[in-house]
Amino acid sequence: MSRVLSAEVKTIVNSTAPALQQHGVAITTRMYERLFEDPAVKAMFDEAAQESGEQPRRLAAAILAYAQNIEKLEALTAPVMRMAARHVETGVKAEHYPLVAAALLPAIRDVLGEAATDEVLAAWGEAYWALADILIGKEADLYAQEAGGPAAAH
Ligand code: HEM
Repeated sequence: MSRVLSAEVKTIVNSTAPALQQHGVAITTRMYERLFEDPAVKAMFDEAAQESGEQPRRLAAAILAYAQNIEKLEALTAPVMRMAARHVETGVKAEHYPLVAAALLPAIRDVLGEAATDEVLAAWGEAYWALADILIGKEADLYAQEAGGPAAAH
C-alpha cells in the first residue's frame, strides 16, 4: 500500500525541519514516555539505548531526515533499510505502528505547544503513515525472506 502525500502536506512537513532540529530529541523523549506506558512495548527496546538517550536521538535524526527529504525520499533508501532490518530483529509488526503514531503526534504538541497547529499535526499524521507504510512493506519482505518464502512484490 502506498499513500500519496499532497504538495501542501510535504511543504508543511518540510517547514517543520528547523523546529525538529531544535526540539527533535525532546519530542522523541516525550514520545517514548508515552509509548512505554505499555509494558509489552517497552520490553521490545534495549534499556541501555534508552537510558543513554541513544534511541531517542536515533529516532529524532530519522524524523528530521524525513522532514528534510520528503520531496526526495530516494535519499532515504539506505536508512529505511537499516530501520526495517532493526525492526525485524526486534519483532516490530504492522500492528505496532498505530501505537507509535498515537504517542508521537501528541508528543509533538506537548513539546512545540501552540506552534504545532492542527494543520501541522494533521500533515505530520499523514506523513507518518506514508513512512510507516514504506517500513511495513520492507519489513513484510524481510519477514517473508526469513520464513524462506519469496519476497512479496511491491
Ligand atoms: C515511522 C515509524 C518509525 C520510525 C521512523 C522508526 C525509526 C527507528 C530508528 C531510526 C531506529 C534505529 C535503527 C538503528 O538501530 O539504526 C529504530 C529502532 C527500533 N524501533 Fe523504530 N521506528 C518506527 C516505528 C517503530 C514501531 C511502530 C515500533 C514498535 C513499537 C518500533 C520499535 C523499534 C525498536 C524496538 C527498535 C530497536 C531499538 C533498540 O535497539 O533498542 N519502531 N526505529
